[in-house]
Amino acid sequence: MKTYQSAELRSMFLKFFQDHGHAVISSASVIPENDPTVLFTTAGMHPLVPYLMGAKHPAGHRLTDVQKCVRTGDIEDVGDFSHLTFFEMLGNWSLGDYFKKEMIPWSWEFLTSEKYLGLPKDKLAFSVFAGDDDCPRDDESAQLWRDCGVSDDHIFFLPKENNWWGPAGVTGPCGPDTEMFIITDKEPCGPDCSPACSCGRYLEIWNDVFMQYNKKADGTFEPLAQKNVDTGMGLERTICVLNGKKSVYETDLFANILGKIAELSGKTYGSDAETTKAFRIIGDHMRTSTFIMGDDRGVSPSNVDQGYVLRRLIRRAVRYGMDIGMPDGFTGEIAKVIIDQYQTVYPELKRNQHFVVEQLALEETRFAKTLKQGNKEFEKLIAKVENQQIDGESAFHLYDTFGFPVEMTQELAKEKGLTVDMNGFHECFKKHQATSQAGAEQRFKGGLADHSAQTARLHTATHLLHAALRHVLGDEVAQKGSNITAERLRFDFSFGRKMTKEEIAEAEKLVNEYIAAAADITCEEMTVPEAKAAGAIGLFESKYGEQVKVYTMGSYSKEICGGPHAHNTGDLKSFKILKEESSSAGVRRIKAVIGATIDDE
Ligand code: ALA
Repeated sequence: MKTYQSAELRSMFLKFFQDHGHAVISSASVIPENDPTVLFTTAGMHPLVPYLMGAKHPAGHRLTDVQKCVRTGDIEDVGDFSHLTFFEMLGNWSLGDYFKKEMIPWSWEFLTSEKYLGLPKDKLAFSVFAGDDDCPRDDESAQLWRDCGVSDDHIFFLPKENNWWGPAGVTGPCGPDTEMFIITDKEPCGPDCSPACSCGRYLEIWNDVFMQYNKKADGTFEPLAQKNVDTGMGLERTICVLNGKKSVYETDLFANILGKIAELSGKTYGSDAETTKAFRIIGDHMRTSTFIMGDDRGVSPSNVDQGYVLRRLIRRAVRYGMDIGMPDGFTGEIAKVIIDQYQTVYPELKRNQHFVVEQLALEETRFAKTLKQGNKEFEKLIAKVENQQIDGESAFHLYDTFGFPVEMTQELAKEKGLTVDMNGFHECFKKHQATSQAGAEQRFKGGLADHSAQTARLHTATHLLHAALRHVLGDEVAQKGSNITAERLRFDFSFGRKMTKEEIAEAEKLVNEYIAAAADITCEEMTVPEAKAAGAIGLFESKYGEQVKVYTMGSYSKEICGGPHAHNTGDLKSFKILKEESSSAGVRRIKAVIGATIDDE
């Protein structure tokens, strides 16, 4: 049987679509830019939402890439054979260009041609949308599969819950899809066995979404101005299925990582269920943590937003590491293996290696300290529980004082046959006005960017603030993070000390001058070297020589950025810094507001 390597699949996919007129673009950050509604990039289409909605992409109408994705909704399931919190998604897009009659034959060619995957034709099955009140039955896709030579008993019409993708959040682009499956040797589980059941006979490897609707907040669907194609092939899962492996951890992507865990712990993967589970959790969580911190927009562990999820991943890995006898400081050792393995595909990991290793060491030390105290506290606590349940106040105390992620308290409780009063926990949480987990999870579920005019204006204010800070504090100031809600902007930047009152006032004054100048904001497209030569700042590193957007705001600011922005600096009306504080070592944080409000739409 042919074996498939991840590097080969990545390059084969990109090359195939490049040969079909697609521009190869770099993976976007795993931390979405200026997207207040979601913590991480969850699919290849996510950074492309504005373009699926009609904005012009600088690289053209046909794109392909490998996108770094993080999905932490199922974190507790990690440890089984298939769940991962980080994965790479291979994808290609038509932005109002080709549609079904091109995409389906291409998918067929890629799956079956000896030049590409060369899969046996009778081992493939396809599902198409069965139709409902929102959208008609997709007979066209079914016919296109038949035209490729697929027999009717390999085509399944399935309803929305199976054959509709998106929106990624509550609103946004979505549409019917056609999914591609490998038929395994497992016998059908019954007369109705189909790709819709989870018996394991059909394993999905690719999804072509025909994105032609925008789901609105009231739940209705309106046709998009353009018909798009959005496809997604999960790299880990596809490699696993193609090689007939049972688990994603048995692919080449995990070989070095699990090998290092074995070397450090002296244990063997697969020796018993508990050890296997620990290896998988450590491998998965360390990979995700390394990609979150090794991103150019990387964050450090904290009690809010992405930082909280990161803290939870690292601490969970450390806890399972203790179970299998991993030595102190093991997280940094594993991160180095991960960085070595992935650096040619994601060079940012190497650039940020120092930060990743340093943050891991700090977090391990912090956790060891709190664990010691927290465990004592936990033991005291369970000695006095009533009704087999830990009350919310105590769980909150463990979280607040000892840095115990509440999920960890839940897991420890479960090991003792206890539960945690989560309602009580959340009440305490709210009462203490801690913003982190509840808000973060809410947003995690919340969906995609709101590209409203107010968000655009706050985004513009962020650029002006960045420029002003560089003017006042010097060129060592570089963006480390940005977060925008409907009310305010938050900007993290590198700077080694607290700003003085005078410096804060000066930066604020400068931004207000830029606003008062009512300068036009223009956007141009160019390559990254051209942008840098033109004096643009920005995090973007290009591997493929692709075109990027550069936003210029009068003579004040020039940045590589996806947008969108206000049309004129005057649209912001005014600017006020609310707070300047520490974010993490060497990183300061400013929260600020503008005079314009949502009502100015
Ligand atoms: N956006 C589609 C997915 O994530 C392709 O499966």
